[in-house]
Amino acid sequence: MPVADCHTHLLPGLDDGAQSEEEARELLGLAAASGTKILFLTPHYLPGHFQAGPQEVQAAVAAWQETASDLDLELVAGQEAYLDPGLPEAVRDGRVLPLGRDRSFLLVELPMDHLPSWADDTLFQLQLKGITPVLAHPERCAGVIKRPEWLEGAVSRGLLVQLNGPSLTGAHGPQVEKVAKSFLRHGLVHFLGSDAHSRHRPPVLRPAVEAVVSLAGTEAARRIAWENPMALLSGHAIASAATEAAATAPRRPFRHFFPWNR
Ligand SMILES: [Fe+2]
Repeated sequence: MPVADCHTHLLPGLDDGAQSEEEARELLGLAAASGTKILFLTPHYLPGHFQAGPQEVQAAVAAWQETASDLDLELVAGQEAYLDPGLPEAVRDGRVLPLGRDRSFLLVELPMDHLPSWADDTLFQLQLKGITPVLAHPERCAGVIKRPEWLEGAVSRGLLVQLNGPSLTGAHGPQVEKVAKSFLRHGLVHFLGSDAHSRHRPPVLRPAVEAVVSLAGTEAARRIAWENPMALLSGHAIASAATEAAATAPRRPFRHFFPWNR
């Protein structure tokens, strides 16, 4: 099945991802060789650290598209925005680049170590501006690992979830792997991304897609690896995240999966 990688850092010079044109070229080749057909390029937007703006990102993506086309890869421009109370204003002022045909989806990175008290309000402010937040790799965020029911609530309020493929195959340790699999089984995952930064964190999703097939079924894998990203790009509704496993398994509370929360 074709694969769309919804989260990468492969544009040299814009953030902490690829550091040279040579490295970017190599990483594009790795993505193509692993079966990825659509690659979302999502440099960090983190005021004070990485502040590439929409025009810069779009120009860089356009400059790389010819190289990518030779590899049968289509590039998509976006950004990964760090959650901050000022983010809704940054969106309003055009300082950060959302995704999608009508630019109404924004990849949002939560703080890694905790869930701030203002997180829900800021995410809601984005929704009021017509932006659907796509939470980037929540399975890696300590605040969400401690309160997995928070993610369930966020999805019920219309937020979407991008899981890091490498989380499913153990690249971020056994606890993150367990959490990632649990989110998948609970039908809380809409997109997959590699979060590639370098040849050590490469843009390769094929092993993760195979893991999704075995954990949640072929249809669920096709939905999150391809159909949902295509729906986002074409302006169609994102399909329910429900997986065959989630639809048929008896409902079990999250604490069943997370012994550290008992
Ligand atoms: Fe990222």
